[in-house]
Amino acid sequence: MSTPAKRIEELRDQLRDHNHRYYTLAQPTISDREYDALMAELEDLETAHPELRSPDSPTVRVGGEPLEGFVTVPHAVPMISLANSYNLDDVRAYDQRTRKRLADKDFHYVVEPKIDGVAVSLRYENGILVRALSRGDGRSGDDITANVRTIGSVPLRLQGKTPPEVLEVRGEVYMTREGFVKLNDSRQAAGLQVFANPRNAAAGSLKLLDSKVVATRPLDAVWYGVGELRGIAFDTHRQMLETLRTFGFRTPAKIWTCDNMDEVETALREIREGKDAYPFEMDGAVIKVDERDLYEELGSTAKSPRWAVAYKYEPEQVETLLKEITIQVGRTGVLTPVAELEPVLVSGSTVSRATLHNWDEMQRKDIRAGDTVVIEKAGEIIPAVVRVVLEKRPEGAKALPPPTKCPACDAPVSQRAGEVAWRCDNPACPAKSLSWLKHFVGRRAMDIDHIGEELIRALLKEQLISHPADLYTLHEKKAQLLDMERMAEKSVDNLLQAIENSKNADLWRIIHALGIPNVGERTAQTLEAHFASLQEIADTDEATLTAIEDIGPIVAKSILDFFALGENQFFIERLRAAGVNLERKGTPVSVEIETDLTGKTVVLTGSLSQMTRDEAKDLLRKLGAKVTGSVSSKTDLLIAGEDAGSKLEKAQKLGVEIWTESDLVNAIPKDAPPSIQSAVQSELGLG
Ligand code: IVH
Repeated sequence: MSTPAKRIEELRDQLRDHNHRYYTLAQPTISDREYDALMAELEDLETAHPELRSPDSPTVRVGGEPLEGFVTVPHAVPMISLANSYNLDDVRAYDQRTRKRLADKDFHYVVEPKIDGVAVSLRYENGILVRALSRGDGRSGDDITANVRTIGSVPLRLQGKTPPEVLEVRGEVYMTREGFVKLNDSRQAAGLQVFANPRNAAAGSLKLLDSKVVATRPLDAVWYGVGELRGIAFDTHRQMLETLRTFGFRTPAKIWTCDNMDEVETALREIREGKDAYPFEMDGAVIKVDERDLYEELGSTAKSPRWAVAYKYEPEQVETLLKEITIQVGRTGVLTPVAELEPVLVSGSTVSRATLHNWDEMQRKDIRAGDTVVIEKAGEIIPAVVRVVLEKRPEGAKALPPPTKCPACDAPVSQRAGEVAWRCDNPACPAKSLSWLKHFVGRRAMDIDHIGEELIRALLKEQLISHPADLYTLHEKKAQLLDMERMAEKSVDNLLQAIENSKNADLWRIIHALGIPNVGERTAQTLEAHFASLQEIADTDEATLTAIEDIGPIVAKSILDFFALGENQFFIERLRAAGVNLERKGTPVSVEIETDLTGKTVVLTGSLSQMTRDEAKDLLRKLGAKVTGSVSSKTDLLIAGEDAGSKLEKAQKLGVEIWTESDLVNAIPKDAPPSIQSAVQSELGLG
């Protein structure tokens, strides 16, 4: 007679086997229905016999209770990164160095695709998956076991009879290209923000605290390496992958063994040519020495092993049709030509527009409407038109001449001395108002909720506003607001309340919101640190401004010119009359408390899990640090989140101090003044 315990074991074995066939081998032998029936039987038995539950049961894949947060755990063996090479000369140089180091030893290379996903390490103790960690800063990562368990192809228990005592397996979790498109479609339909590319979608999914949601995400993984090993060893990389396969892991579908550089080059070409056949995004190939017993001899640098090198393919270039060139009017009136493209997928995301920067640039590249153009994503982020495919130019395609009047308001345009940009000279240009208002209410300016581009357009159309200062008298026009389409009492109240709340924003926000040319968020914060009020800035002089670190003569002139203009003085008067805060609140935080960060120049990189990038920036500033964008010899500290890339490498090279996100949180002094404590608490989502 079968006891429940026995039946449970039977069902688990069967389900494990079917999981493996379905997810890892893609060769199911039973129907979904039959599978579901086995799973239901197992779930029922486990519910009836909670004492028989087990963490490696196939039932625990569907996700468990949401977590409060992730626990950070050190890696048994650090997860270091790979050195990159960008062309064949780099790879040949790597080969030369390796041959020299290995003197006359015989060795081979293996070449395999480089998966553009999220690095994860799995730890199996006596065959059972005990922990999955994200890379984190390489020394320790987040415990994401609950999320990784939901990935069908990840064995919860190793297949085979004699598992090793400890096996750490490393690889890449990714979102399938197909799954990514579907997920974004449904997010778009639900009004949710879409992910920029499959990598972000995978990283975002693994960071969710609710593994039930993760279970619905189309994640998969490929495993290509190992960390700590006890009771098992491998002679070659190829043999390691073969063994991982027998344990039930998905490994690269094909790897190339090469005797020499010619063969490596062929492999690199073949991998690139087969790119579209992979279900994941691939950003290059990895060349590894196959003989693992040579790894120790080769050793590693602080950041990467010498037994492997990554080869990054050129950014993907795609041809598409440039349907039309439109002109965008910026808040300062600058007119920017924009390429409206036939949408195409480039390096993992859909591109339908690309800036053409200005007329000089457009003429230099001879870009015309109707052209077939080659686009790529510069730094894999911002789409750019690289060149025109002249052979495909249709007859009669005309260049767009520099504008003679503003496309939005027909007012005359002009070019300032020394500038390539054309500007609309009409202070009342509606397109300019739109851009300015969008900037003014934006998250890094006055941060006014409940007002987006569509509403601004509608308000402009109804002539309820034409200038940012008009927002503060909008409450006088409540009746007209209620008359607008889709504006119920509640939405109007929310809008007016959000505007009211913004009156109390920090001084730097209003400085930024004013739209002073050349004064971005960071300069606005620098100004706040040096002046107690907007009036003080308006009354200052060039010498005082240029004495401030980070403010040069161009920015100083911009500021002085702005405040000298009558219309801007009137703008500020209107803000003052409306009760908008134009004073610094208290002394600047940076001088109010001393922290480990006071006066430090800090760079943020990688993705953070406990706060957004913006929140981290604000927090750092409150703790007295100066946040800059790139790592240089002036950088005192790098805060590296998940998947930190080139900035981390550069910081390591320069010997810059490196912190994790937790280090940052721990740097908040317990005795910080209430104003900071509360700000910090809300930033950490605690308050
Ligand atoms: S081997 C010591 N093989 O790329 C590091 N890495 O840019 C050994 N990656 O950190 C890594 N595909 O996250 C290796 N076939 C592959 C890979 C791969 C993707 C990732 C991995 C690594 C990063 C380096």
